[in-house]
Amino acid sequence: MNTKAYVDQHKDRFINELIDLLKIPSISADPAYKNDVIKTSEVIKKSLEDAGCDHVEICETPGYPIVYGEKIIDPNLPTVLVYGHYDVQPPDPVELWDSPPFEPVIKKTDLHPDGAIFARGACDDKGQMYMHVKAMEYMTANNDLPCNVKFMIEGEEEVGSESLGWFLERNREKLANDVILISDTGMIAKDVPSITTGLRGLSYVEVEVTGPNRDLHSGLYGGAVANPINILCDMIAQLHDENNHITIPGFYDKVEELSTAERAEMAKAPFSQEAYNKALDIAQEHGEKGYTTNERNSIRPTLDVNGIWGGYTGEGAKTVIASKAFAKISMRLVPDQNWHEITELFQKHFESIAPPSVKVKVKPHHGGTAYVTPIDSLGYKAASAAYEDTFGKTPIPQRSGGSIPIVALFEKELNSKSILMGFGLDSDAIHSPNEHFGIWNYLKGIETIPHFYKHYTAMSK
Ligand code: BES
Ligand code: MN
Ligand code: MN
Repeated sequence: MNTKAYVDQHKDRFINELIDLLKIPSISADPAYKNDVIKTSEVIKKSLEDAGCDHVEICETPGYPIVYGEKIIDPNLPTVLVYGHYDVQPPDPVELWDSPPFEPVIKKTDLHPDGAIFARGACDDKGQMYMHVKAMEYMTANNDLPCNVKFMIEGEEEVGSESLGWFLERNREKLANDVILISDTGMIAKDVPSITTGLRGLSYVEVEVTGPNRDLHSGLYGGAVANPINILCDMIAQLHDENNHITIPGFYDKVEELSTAERAEMAKAPFSQEAYNKALDIAQEHGEKGYTTNERNSIRPTLDVNGIWGGYTGEGAKTVIASKAFAKISMRLVPDQNWHEITELFQKHFESIAPPSVKVKVKPHHGGTAYVTPIDSLGYKAASAAYEDTFGKTPIPQRSGGSIPIVALFEKELNSKSILMGFGLDSDAIHSPNEHFGIWNYLKGIETIPHFYKHYTAMSK
């Protein structure tokens, strides 16, 4: 049976299995969900066994466990390592969901007339990860597995994959592979397949601005002492100039500049600014002068406040000058920026622009390195051929603005390239309320993945 026929025959079960997986709230950021995260790893283990892996184990780490599975049919054949994550983002703000985040429902949308599964993790990454488990099931059930497979499914991606570096260092042999296959990104549109060839890096920091040693009456003290919230806003505002360039000295020093030809190539991807603005209900786009929307969100570095708090935010009004104000700030980085260096540059600069009336602390969180992969590699060509088989079109290479820090680490530690075959859409609302994953996309992913194995093995000969 071919992949399309098999998917058609088993699609209801494939959907129901994913729904069961989505019911477990595997929120890695919140320790209250520890048992659910661990339970999810056990469900993944069972699913890999059922899909035909010969050897599956739960590997303990200093953090959440990594599920490892393999089927080695012949050491002389190539080995594909599949990476994915079974943890999800917190669902907050829960009140903005139309249905509870861990009670999956199928609903039709304009872009998903066949229905989409609404739940936290539907697209990022349980749904996309599970496509690989079902593709494996197809290949083993139909005697159509052409090479060796290894699975590594982790539970800490959404909190920075801290244990993964630890695990890679200790398991180089076990994880040895020829190519890494990941579905944790998106594609341009259902009729415009694309392969992600770049990811941005990240530097994430938290800042604290302290004014007076206690909260003050804003009438008795207002105007005479620094208000840390006012000062923090002012400092944040200074981080961009009138052209929306980031003002941190040295920030752009190592930024890879793309050639005019590369930018022209990028501009060929179908894109409507009007539709983009309409979908987000904004009157106008906003960003760095001299770059298009697609350049701003992929090949250019950024600085964004992710959260800001302090003072009184409850019901009604309270007249107060807070003692402290806080913000969480992320910088998306591009090749060849070094995230440790950028974190340091930020820290130095932020401290230097603080007026003497306040104290400033910068606390680095996690970070990661950007990634780019060439389109002439065996892995890219095999992926491209796989999409041609099932979409009838050559996929477009696309640099994404998101980050999967582990991809650069794979290259450094395991010396292998990652192929990013994403099947989500930007409108799937990952990390947001009402996250969903189109059933068409889910099934198309399962159908396409085995073609990658076939082409990769054939091209390796
Ligand atoms: N799957 C996403 C990253 C992604 C999504 C890349 C869509 C490209 C397209 C991943 O789970 C994620 O959310 N990564 C984080 C970084 C991580 C260190 C928390 C991100 O990009 O914010
Ligand atoms: Mn993800
Ligand atoms: Mn994510």
